[in-house]
Parts: sequence; structure tokens; C-alpha cells
Amino acid sequence: MNTQNNNIKTSKSIYFYKNHIAINGGKKLEGHLTINGAKNSALALMAASILAKGEINLFNVPKISDVEKMSTLLIKMGINIKTHRKRLEINTKKILEPSENSFSDLFNSLRASFFCIGPILARFGRAKIPLPGGCSIGARPIDEHIDSLKKLGVQFKFKNNYIIAEVINPNKKLIGSLINFKCKSVGATETLLMAATLAKGQTILNNAAQEPEIIDLANMLIKMGAKVKGAGTASITIDGVESLSGCDYNVMADRIEAGTFLIAAAITRSNISLSPVEPNHLQAVINKLEECGCKFEYSHQYLKIIPNEVLKSVNITTKPFPGFPTDLQAPFMALMATAIGVSEIKETVFENRMHHVKELNRMGAKITVKKDIATILGVKNLQGSSVIGLDLRATAALALAGLSANGKTIIQGLEHLERGYEDFPSKLKEIGAEIINEEKKIKICYQ
Ligand code: EPZ
Repeated sequence: MNTQNNNIKTSKSIYFYKNHIAINGGKKLEGHLTINGAKNSALALMAASILAKGEINLFNVPKISDVEKMSTLLIKMGINIKTHRKRLEINTKKILEPSENSFSDLFNSLRASFFCIGPILARFGRAKIPLPGGCSIGARPIDEHIDSLKKLGVQFKFKNNYIIAEVINPNKKLIGSLINFKCKSVGATETLLMAATLAKGQTILNNAAQEPEIIDLANMLIKMGAKVKGAGTASITIDGVESLSGCDYNVMADRIEAGTFLIAAAITRSNISLSPVEPNHLQAVINKLEECGCKFEYSHQYLKIIPNEVLKSVNITTKPFPGFPTDLQAPFMALMATAIGVSEIKETVFENRMHHVKELNRMGAKITVKKDIATILGVKNLQGSSVIGLDLRATAALALAGLSANGKTIIQGLEHLERGYEDFPSKLKEIGAEIINEEKKIKICYQ
């Protein structure tokens, strides 16, 4: 019953739990960490399962919320998914025709879900998907996806924030074509790679992204019966086939998780080792860590970092692979905040990926930003503070800064970390960090 009358407004309160982590900094880390399967490969491989007429068993799948969201989405499409710890058993036998699909808002909350449009069009000849929004790091346009799919014979209508796509060919088959991407896009390369596997004839993708996750996707598609050559180079050739079968596939190790923990070791001047790690997936990051004063020991899929006590400032510019990865820009900036000297970090991949600067400065960092360049004057010690993570990698950067800071750092935004890092706080604890996971009851009063 509404007790509200004209002049007295009742005020109501709601409580919700805001997850955050508290870190007591200044501790040395030591030991060995096992690296999980790669988020940015697993999500694409899950989308590719739509193409399979049989069962896909995905092994080494990270237990992260983005994978849970993608699973929920595929289940809404009528796909059967059984989760056995880190194995996903995916069966598309009862997949729904796109017109019947009740595509949920999950598409909006998970950027990678848009990659499903390629496989859905290849399998059904039509798709209806919510227009993906931007996010905190940028507008995240999809023009490369749309323009390239048009070349394979797709027409698009945009209605009430939905993309309605239809293959023009009466037999609903995509037609292979020559695609010259205007910019290197991981998502567009993956979308077109998946769509082209069932197209009629040959597709060539020029100026293709070369990230290791593209190779992982191509390797699984080849196991399913696709004809793909050149993945990992700037030109990929796909010869369409009639259909693709199921397969077993092991998700590659997460190079961004590995890079994040290498930087955790560097920022605390600690020796830690990681496996499995493919050093050539992280060469640009290893080179920069060596340049600032870290040494490495390698053996098969194993990497140990040995940082100097004093680290030098170095400059980085983020680039598509094999350049320095944009996903490690924020963690590396946290490291440069504690190095000796002045460094410059230029972000060239996303237009708005500097949210961590303000929060690092609250911890005593000395960082200024002009357009896409951050200038960092290293300080001897960061100070523990209460900070807010606004996206996945920015929150990781604040946690790394907290490991090195004097005193306690409270970081809000644990939900961002859980999107892309499996058990991040417990892994840091495993190597000696003093971490407290706290649930805090927060009261919001509203009229
Ligand atoms: C993938 O995003 C990753 N996400 C991102 O990881 C990663 O940062 C990014 O690739 C770059 O490596 C997944 O794989 C799920 P892009 P994606 O298309 O595919 C522009 C993380 O933290 N562009 O390669 O969306 C775009 O604006 C996340 O794990 C267009 O202009 O990235 C950006 O400037 C963040 N038109 C650049 O290309 C398009 O149609 C690179 O974006 C598509 C992209």
C-alpha cells in the first residue's frame, strides 16, 4: 500500500552487497601459479560450437562470469550445455531457429556474444541479435563485422535496437568473398572466420588480426572439418565446406592472465613462476619487463620472472598482436607508477582506456593524461587507499598497485575481476599476498 501523501515522501532503503577486496600491501610474493584457459579464446570457441552438427567438448575452460553468461545465452538458443568443472559438453542438436530465439539482454552485457552472428548466419541464413552497446573502454563499433558480412551476401535491417540479418542467396548459403579489413579487429576476424567455414567457395581475410586466440579458434574449426589456412598471419584463406562436426578441444592458456601475474611479481619485486605459458604469446610484454630490469628463466611452457629491486621507467605503445597488448596497458601502468624515472604509455587500440589513472593517482601515483598518452613519474611508494575499478583490466591494475602500496587498499569492482580472472584473489593469496575478500552491506536510501 502506498503510504505516500502529497507533502511527505516516504523514504525507502534497499541494501545490497558490494563485493570488494582489501589488500595489505608491501608483501613479497613467492611460489608458482597455474594459468587458466584463455577467456578471449573460450568465448569465441563457445560461439563456434553453434556451427557443429555434433557434440563439442571444450576442456580447460576458465570458471569466470563471462563464460557463465555465454553458456546461459547458448542455452537460450536451445543448445544443451553440461558443465563438468572445467569441461563444457556442448550439444547443438536442439538449437532453435533464430526467428524463435528469445535473444536475451545477455547480448548487451557480453560483448563477445556478438561473435555468434557469424555462426548463426552460416548455419541458418538469418539472425536477430540486439545491437551491442559500447562499454567503459570505448564505443566498440561493429562496422567491420557488418561491412564484411555484407560481402558474403548478407543484408541487414536495424529495428528497435535489434540487428536483423538475412542471407540474400535463396538457398540461404553465404558466398565466399575477398575481405580487406580496414582495421585489425579480433572480433571481426573471428566472426568472418567462423561464417566463412560454411560459405560456398573461398573467402580470403586480409589485414586479419593475428592474436593467438585467432589461431586457437582456427585450430578448433579445422578439427571440426573446416578448411582454414594462414590463421595468425595477416591473410587467412577459408574454403567453405558443407557441414562441420563436433570435436574435443583444449582452450589455450590465458596470456593476459599470465602477463597480469608477471606484472604482480614485478611490482612487488618478487620471483614467481607460471605454467602453462607460451612465451611467444607474451614476447612484447617480456621485452618491456626485461627493459625495465627483470630477468626470466624459460623452459617448456614454464616461465619464471626475477625482477631487480630497482626497476627503470620504460615507454610502451599498445598495438594489435604481436605488439604490446592493450589488455595489459593498465597493469603495466601500475608498475610504471613505482619505477624510477618518467615513462609514457600510449593507448592506440581503444579510445577510452585510462579509467585507472584517477584511481592510481588516489594511491599517490603521479600520472597525467593528454589525449591517448599517459605520462608517469615513478614514485618510491604508493599509499593504500579506497579505490574503484571500472573495468576488468583497470580493476586488476588497482589490485597490483595495492600489492605494492604501503598500508591497506580497498578495491571495489570485484565483479569486474570475476568476468575475466578465475579466483584472482585466492591466486594472489596462494603466492603470499595478504588479501581479504569482504562483502559489505551497503544501504541506499531513495525517495
Ligand atoms: C577483443 O575485443 C578482446 N575481447 C578484448 O579483450 C581485446 O582488448 C581486443 O580484442 C583487442 O585485442 C574478446 O576477445 C572477447 P577489436 P574486440 O575488434 O574484438 C575497432 C579484455 O579485457 N573496431 O580487436 O571487441 C575497435 O573500436 C577485452 O579481455 C572497429 O573500428 O576488439 C577497437 O578500437 C577488452 N570496428 C579496435 O578495432 C569494428 O567493427 C580493436 O577492437 C570492430 C572493431
